[in-house]
Amino acid sequence: VTSKYKSVRLGSLTQLGDAIDDIGAKTILLVTGNESFRTSGASDAVKKHLAGFGVVHLSGFRSNPKIEEVKRAADRVRLQRIDAIIAVGGGSVIDTAKLINVLTPIRGALREYVTGQKRPENRLAPLIAIPTTAGSGSEATHFAVVYAGSTKYSVAADCVRPDYAIVDATMTFSMPPRLTAVCGFDALCQAIESYWAVGSTDESKKHAKAAIQMILPSFRQVVSAPDPDLRSMMSEAAYRAGRAIDISKTTGPHAMSYPLTATFGTSHGHAVALTLGRFIAANSRVDGVKLNERRGRSYLESTMREIHGMLGCGDGEECSDMWYSLMGEVGLETSLGDLGIDVPSGRRRIVEGVNIERLGNNPVVMSAPALSAIIDEL
Ligand SMILES: [Fe+2]
Repeated sequence: VTSKYKSVRLGSLTQLGDAIDDIGAKTILLVTGNESFRTSGASDAVKKHLAGFGVVHLSGFRSNPKIEEVKRAADRVRLQRIDAIIAVGGGSVIDTAKLINVLTPIRGALREYVTGQKRPENRLAPLIAIPTTAGSGSEATHFAVVYAGSTKYSVAADCVRPDYAIVDATMTFSMPPRLTAVCGFDALCQAIESYWAVGSTDESKKHAKAAIQMILPSFRQVVSAPDPDLRSMMSEAAYRAGRAIDISKTTGPHAMSYPLTATFGTSHGHAVALTLGRFIAANSRVDGVKLNERRGRSYLESTMREIHGMLGCGDGEECSDMWYSLMGEVGLETSLGDLGIDVPSGRRRIVEGVNIERLGNNPVVMSAPALSAIIDEL
């Protein structure tokens, strides 16, 4: 069975019943977060649709999926009949469900599938993703993050992508301000990175631009005084940013974020945002530097100018200043010191842990000294 992306249904958990009917499911694997599943109201809303079905409910996963936890879950469901999987949660929960879906059918060792030497080709069942945060865009992408120890991998294949994304902003209404800020920054970073990514296309840039233009004007208010319209806009923007990176993939700031998260526990969106301001400045200095971008120097210059314009700034340096002000305004620390990270030891661990594949998708080639310089400025 190969996954085929069927439909997005914005603002309508009520359509979960249609999706289940469409699949013809009798037995459902429900993958959820812990606390968030109840506090978001998702528990009551989702369970209403599941009366009369056989439900296997898995929860209790830690954030940032660990391969051992996925393996344990796969062993639990392998001998059961599962007609559909419903994932309700933030990016980690949806990624966990994706991993269970494509790794359960594999007999034997998972190592090569985790490291990307082999791609999964089958999945357990059609997947319905219902995000409870506005951020990761995981409901729209064909990859899932998984950690083996402190190393981050990405399992990527068409069959990883959810068949249905039900993006209902009411699921996000109970997000506290800091989570709203962190997840909003993940979406905003994904959109900006997608726009300048080596892997961008006209289509990905259209999604990315829409996401940036939806998030920026309302970001401060959705953190401090959210209302349903702002929440809906953030959910849609996060989904659009997901569509964008599904095509383009992410770049430098994501590449640098994984060791920060794995080693120091910095939440994902926060870890990405920390370096993105510096990357706007670095990617704007295109004269006399080596490029990964094959469309050329003047293409990159005009792309960066478009980004400056979207952020309402004149150049990369100004964007960088604006970026860290915005982080401060929504309550996020902007320096490693404020996060309690010792810079000299942190610098080495971050640079050594950088994800090389994602770094190669950054438009400007970033050397190890250039990465160290970015950390020293934080
Ligand atoms: Fe992200």
